[in-house]
Formats: sequence, C-alpha cells, structure tokens
Amino acid sequence: MKKSVILGALLVGSALLFNQAISKEPGEAISEEDWALYQEGINPGEVFAEEEGGGLFEKPMGPKNLSCASCHVKDGEVEERVATAAAYYPKFDKDAGMIINLEQRIQICQSKYQEVKPFSLKSKENTALTTYLYYLAQGTKINVDTTSPVAKEYYDYGRYVFTLKRGKRNLSCQVCHEFAAGKVLRMQWLKPLGFEYNGIKGTTAADHWPAFRMTKNKVQTLQQRFQGCQKQAGQKKLPLGSKEMVALELYVKSLSNGAELKTPGLRR
Ligand code: HEC
Ligand code: HEC
Repeated sequence: MKKSVILGALLVGSALLFNQAISKEPGEAISEEDWALYQEGINPGEVFAEEEGGGLFEKPMGPKNLSCASCHVKDGEVEERVATAAAYYPKFDKDAGMIINLEQRIQICQSKYQEVKPFSLKSKENTALTTYLYYLAQGTKINVDTTSPVAKEYYDYGRYVFTLKRGKRNLSCQVCHEFAAGKVLRMQWLKPLGFEYNGIKGTTAADHWPAFRMTKNKVQTLQQRFQGCQKQAGQKKLPLGSKEMVALELYVKSLSNGAELKTPGLRR
C-alpha cells in the first residue's frame, strides 16, 4: 500500500516535471531538436559528448599542432588512464601541486602540452571535453581518494562547506539534502546525496553528472549543478574551480564511491 502511494506520487511528480520541461519558456525549455532526440530514446548529452567533446579531443591546436589524441590515443584507443580518469577526480595532481578536478586537468594539458590558452571552466568547450571523458568512463566505478592526508583535508573542508549556512535564507546544502531529506520542494524530492542518510535512500548524484538538463537545454557539470542549488537557495555562487568547490566536489563525489558512472545523465 505504502509503496504504491509513493510510486503514484513519483509518477505524478515526473508527469509534472515533463510538462515543465517541454513548456516553451525562451532559453529555458528543451529545444525541438533535443526533444525529438529524447523521444527516440537518445540522450542529447551523449550526442554532445561524442560530437562536440570527441571533436575537440581530436582537434590539433597550438604551435605544435597537437590534439589530445596525439598524446592519449594508442593503437586507435584512448589510453586507459585517460579513458577512466573521470572516476578518480578530484585528486592530487603533481603539475598543479594540489587537488583539482577533471575540468582543471584538461586545462593543464591545454596550457602545458598543447601550449594554448585553456578553455575557461565556464565554457561550452571545457564542458564538452569533460563530458567526453566522463562518457568514455561510463561503467567505471567511482573511486575518489579520501584517505591520503591532503585528500582527507579536502574531504573535511568539503563537508564543512556542505554544512555552512550562507545567504539571505541562511541555508546550507545540509539543510536541504540531510535535514529536509524525504520532503518535497517545488515538486522535487529532496534526497540525501549518496547511497543513504539516516535510513533515507539517497541519490548517488556523482554517477550521472555531467548531465543534460532538460530545463536548461544543455549539459552541466557537477559543480555547475552545485551553483544551481546555490542560486536557488539565494546564495552567492561559489566560483567553479575554487578550493571550496573542488572540496565540495570531492566530498559529494566520494559519497558515490563504488557506484558505476552512467555519464552523461539526463536530468530535469
Ligand atoms: C603533448 C602531450 C599531451 C597532450 C597534447 C595532452 N596531454 Fe593530457 N597528459 C599528458 C601527460 C604527459 C600527462 C600525465 C601527467 C602526469 O601525470 O604526470 C597527461 C595527463 C592527462 C590526464 C590525467 C590522467 C590521469 O591519470 O590522471 C587527462 C585526463 C588528460 N591528460 C587529458 C588530456 C586532454 C583532454 C587533452 C587535450 C585538451 C590532453 N590531455 C592533451 C600529455 C598530453
Ligand atoms: C533549497 C534547498 C537546496 C539547497 C540549499 C541545496 N540543494 Fe541541491 N538540490 C535541491 C533540489 C530540489 C534538487 C533536485 C532534486 C534532484 O534532482 O534529485 C537538488 C539537486 C542536487 C544535486 C543533484 C542530485 C541528482 O541526483 O542529480 C546535487 C549534486 C546537489 N543538489 C548538491 C547540492 C549542494 C552541494 C548544495 C550546497 C552547495 C545544495 N545542493 C544545496 C535542493 C537544494
């Protein structure tokens, strides 16, 4: 009985969600092309990963005319460590001398090896390359290190940022994703991030980001999703790639450790 009530509520929820996704608010709603793809069972995020991301991966750039593929493709295949890298970031990087995420690792290869000005973290190009690497890593289990001393420091700092109340409404990530978990906000279930929290089943959020967002009509990364929550909570958005965001990403992603990447996902 209880189960079917919940299921019913979920179905109503997703029907509403759908109506919203296809409503024609300019710039907000899904495009007709993407909606057509979606109806054929094709995730526009995968098309973006393969075409835009894969295209950039192969594209020679800079004074030496090198593409990512020039260095990272061996015998026609993207080398294993690059093809699975998405499962292990954020992690300590020797070149950076600190913990960085995959988006930032791409930037380092661009400046250090391709010798070009890196695509900014906000750019469609950086997101395309990132999404491509996450797409290649589909099926790899997330395994973010939280035990080395530096990773532990980031984990603790990430947890701190998660619990920090900010903005005019004095909200933290924790208020919505732990204290209010199981409740509904604007027709969406508030879920703990991770397998479960206090007996409430959660969402292994990091296994499906970057995701194509139907309401935004584009692919967003996990940090960009965090910014969406920050905006919704009336907070000043923390900058992409900042220590706070990388720590938050490491913390949230580690809660999905063990889950297989299903990237790019498809989200409202
Ligand atoms: C001239 C060769 C070269 C080019 C071009 C290059 N890289 Fe790299 N890349 C490297 C080397 C060398 C490393 C390893 C650095 C280390 O771990 O010491 C690396 C590391 C990486 C890693 C991290 C792998 C891991 O094990 O953590 C990723 C991801 C990556 N590159 C992606 C890219 C992408 C995407 C591009 C194109 C934008 C690119 N690289 C361009 C040489 C290159
Ligand atoms: C005002 C309440 C609220 C606050 C504060 C909030 N979120 Fe969210 N968050 C939501 C809602 C609602 C969703 C959409 C539900 C969904 O997609 O499962 C969501 C979705 C997410 C998702 C995607 C979940 C998934 O499975 O795709 C992540 C990750 C996330 N939030 C992280 C954060 C982080 C990190 C913070 C703090 C910076 C935060 N949220 C603050 C309400 C909130």
